[in-house]
Amino acid sequence: MSKRPRPLVAGNWKMNGSLAGARDLAKAAAELAGRTRTEIALCPPFPLLAPVAAILSGTAAQLGAQDCHAQDKGAYTGDVAAPLLREIGCRYVILGHSERRAQHRESDPEVRAKVAAAWRAGLGAIICVGETESERELGRTRARLALQVQESLPDGANPANTVIAYEPVWAIGSGRTPRPEEVSELHAFLRAALVARIGPEADSVRILYGGSVKADNARALMGVPEVDGALVGGASLDAKAFSAIAEACRET
Ligand code: PGA
Repeated sequence: MSKRPRPLVAGNWKMNGSLAGARDLAKAAAELAGRTRTEIALCPPFPLLAPVAAILSGTAAQLGAQDCHAQDKGAYTGDVAAPLLREIGCRYVILGHSERRAQHRESDPEVRAKVAAAWRAGLGAIICVGETESERELGRTRARLALQVQESLPDGANPANTVIAYEPVWAIGSGRTPRPEEVSELHAFLRAALVARIGPEADSVRILYGGSVKADNARALMGVPEVDGALVGGASLDAKAFSAIAEACRET
């Protein structure tokens, strides 16, 4: 394996958080980003993006959103456009999270269109892939991951505009995680699928692990050489746990 990219730890707050709590977490993330080599990003709900941006501005911590629309503007009540996210200070947007795939029936082509919109706006896309429990039990994990990589990525993915988050659906919010050896194997598989999709540049695209990453399993999961950081849900709402996860990443 060639020189690995700088790890990224992104906090996905999902539909959690409050204005007061967001300020505290943002201050903690700014401080954390100043003392670790790991890149830090916070992805709060839409109404908290601007207040968090105000705190992160001028610090090393990055801001991300949890979704965007595939169009740049228009009559789409309740949706949010990627150019606006960029304008208010986002660097990233999470796309194709399994909760959106399941609860909003987002398909791979829809995810791909959203990724293209994110890129047009200058955002980096954190594209989530992962198998469900039944796919895993049926031995379909690799086929599922290969298809998601093939179908969710527009042409033109590169290390600057794309991050992949491998999130086994059964591990999200469940407290269960794959064994580090499985994570290692599946990340290597995803890397090969990415190389097949976009060529040798894929070697520097970061592949994060996500799904029940906590302070107490971070060393084991982040210690897997193929893992380039974490997408963290529940534990990102606890500044101490989030910081422990970031500190468990390799020093590159
Ligand atoms: P979790 O969520 O860390 O709470 O399991 C991860 C995610 O959904 O991104």
